[in-house]
Amino acid sequence: MEYEISPDYLPISPCSLRTNTTVGCDIYLLAKTTIEVRFVLYCRGDAVFDETKKDMLVAQRIKSLFIKKDEQETYFDYLENNFQHIVSDTSIPTDERIKIVHSAATNLVKDLYNDPRSGNVERTKTFANNMVDYVIKDSKAAESLLKLAVHEYYTYTHSVNVAAVGTLFGQDLGLGVNDLKGLCAGILLHDVGKTRISADILNKKGKLTKEEFEIIKKHPEFGIEVLEETGVQFKEERIITLQHHENDDGSGYPYGLKKDEIQPCGKIARIIDVYDALTANRSYKDALRPFAALQEMKDEMFHCFDTELFREFIHFLGPYDPRKRAKISSKRYTTLAR
Ligand SMILES: [Fe+2]
Repeated sequence: MEYEISPDYLPISPCSLRTNTTVGCDIYLLAKTTIEVRFVLYCRGDAVFDETKKDMLVAQRIKSLFIKKDEQETYFDYLENNFQHIVSDTSIPTDERIKIVHSAATNLVKDLYNDPRSGNVERTKTFANNMVDYVIKDSKAAESLLKLAVHEYYTYTHSVNVAAVGTLFGQDLGLGVNDLKGLCAGILLHDVGKTRISADILNKKGKLTKEEFEIIKKHPEFGIEVLEETGVQFKEERIITLQHHENDDGSGYPYGLKKDEIQPCGKIARIIDVYDALTANRSYKDALRPFAALQEMKDEMFHCFDTELFREFIHFLGPYDPRKRAKISSKRYTTLAR
């Protein structure tokens, strides 16, 4: 029998709960009978989720628990605070851990773009640090993350998928841990300046007027203002925010920089940003599949990219196993910002 699950509740993975912690929001079980489905309180928000409760879930083979939707913020805070423990718990299958990372990251990005103040910018940085530490330690995690990011590119977790693709691309290029952390945080933060532009312009369905486009072109500099107001100085994040619309041939904005006037992380961000735009579902056009996006980038926008980096990106994302392929270039990208 098919049941309609209440829109007031959100399913969560039992794997995301650590024993001997309190989650902060009530957790429910779905009880099904032949005549009804009901949510039954399973663990109160202020009660400790202990071994006995966990054993009961395992014994009953419970695959989903539920929280009330209006308490989801509390749950996502819990995930973020327990991130390192969850991702290093080898009893949780890798794919399941990656899904938990995704849901926490998606919530973080939503908060960041709703309220880009220092707390959320710092949360983003901390999250990027943790995520990079995780994918560096666990090559299976990197593989699983890339699989999810490429195959489920159309989902609401899009910007997180793109940050994952960018980070793993950086890893493939041979970047060190600190550069990868800057790259990951920079990709998550890069459009934060758009929060200073009116929604009427950002969401306009028809063609933008010249004046409207001039306003859009200010978002990299607005982004720097936002980062500066947080009082935190992040080198790569600033460069990525400022240079992610600069084109290799000088036709980009805000400064019309060309070739090596653009920093390596700015060049990577340009590629990732276009890939992001083409693979996202927008109100005015359908999303392209990853390989169709690469084709369009090659055919229509080749002048935007650093040729060698773009080739590396095609090989990285292409149909071959990126971890087994031979490097097409002997050049190593040992630093992101000069
Ligand atoms: Fe942008």
